[in-house]
Amino acid sequence: MRGMEDLFIVKYPAPVLRRPAARIAAVDEQVRERARAMFAAMYRDKGVGLAAPQVDWSARLFVMNPSGEPGDEHAYENPEITWRSKEKAKASEGCLSLPDVNGKVERPVKIRLSAQDLEGKAVEVDLDGFPARVAQHEIDHLDGVLIIDRFSMAEKSVIEPRLREMREEAAAGAKPRK
Ligand code: CO
Repeated sequence: MRGMEDLFIVKYPAPVLRRPAARIAAVDEQVRERARAMFAAMYRDKGVGLAAPQVDWSARLFVMNPSGEPGDEHAYENPEITWRSKEKAKASEGCLSLPDVNGKVERPVKIRLSAQDLEGKAVEVDLDGFPARVAQHEIDHLDGVLIIDRFSMAEKSVIEPRLREMREEAAAGAKPRK
């Protein structure tokens, strides 16, 4: 397991980002330690949320701090959305795994989330507005879904050159050096 300092965020098109993540069987000290390391990586890269597959860990866990305030840190294990409002809204989203890619994503404005906290205790929370959007973005990651999948056809064509560039960079990086 990597130390806290060198937890790096994997970028598109890493296959782990497309794999549905596995449930966490038990919330133990190792899970807590990794969640702490994920917060550190999220703050380092100036994000508001981070899902475990983004640190190459295919597990159903995400962390978020939607406001950036010290008291607004949340870590959720095995999250399930049990209710979504009919009201939806579109807003621009980015992703730490997709640098320089932004686009509008439509999502329900409010959700109810069932999950476990870092003590393994069952929790149920109602989220509204930006926190609801962040949570839905991160839960998408646990199902292998990225924001680019939710962009309009027009936005997809706009960002395709950037995605192609990232795929080519990844392919070049994977090749043995001469
Ligand atoms: Co993301």
